[in-house]
Amino acid sequence: MNTSKIKIWDLPVRIFHWLLVACFATAYLTEDDFMTIHTYAGYTIMGLLSFRIIWGIIGPQHARFSDFVQTPSSVLAYLKDIFYNRAKRYLGHNPAGGAMVIALIASLLLTTITGLAAYATEEAAGPLVSLMDMTPNFIYDGAEDVHEFFANLTLALIFFHIVGVVIASLSHKENLVKAMVTGYKQSE
Ligand code: HEM
Repeated sequence: MNTSKIKIWDLPVRIFHWLLVACFATAYLTEDDFMTIHTYAGYTIMGLLSFRIIWGIIGPQHARFSDFVQTPSSVLAYLKDIFYNRAKRYLGHNPAGGAMVIALIASLLLTTITGLAAYATEEAAGPLVSLMDMTPNFIYDGAEDVHEFFANLTLALIFFHIVGVVIASLSHKENLVKAMVTGYKQSE
């Protein structure tokens, strides 16, 4: 059997991932008392997401959305296979992992955009302030509550993301966290 190592996660994807972890943790923990740090962490997350969306289109094979975004029925079939402990191993993201990547990116985007709206209404600061006169009020009403809702939704998704990583690592007896650090997996 060929057990050579194969590069799966390129350096930009790995830097994106661990910076995202650090920035989300920073933003979540500073939301009450350290508004400057909180907003800079949020801006960095927006930059990271913009990069990742572009990289998902032009990046190498396993970074591309086309490599891991699958139909809802494939995701459900994969989850069923996990339940019966007969799930196929994937070198890139498995179908459920791919769906989670999209859910995390979408939830983080909504968290950061509503964060900008909340920053404009609560602190009269940030890039959306100048747009407030031109935009309907309902966009800004309750922005802080909506922002908090999406931040907590993201936290819940992260919980399931980590559970998914642990289950996939155990079922295929491979260390997926190490792979996200080194970039390498066993080819077989
Ligand atoms: C310490 C906690 C975390 C661990 C151990 C972890 C681990 C991992 C691993 C192993 C993968 C690759 C999954 C695979 O092999 O298919 C991954 C992907 C990913 N994780 Fe995490 N993760 C953590 C926290 C987070 C957080 C907090 C976020 C979001 C704020 C996040 C967002 C993502 C995203 C977006 C991907 C896809 C990477 C890409 O393709 O660019 N993770 N994570």
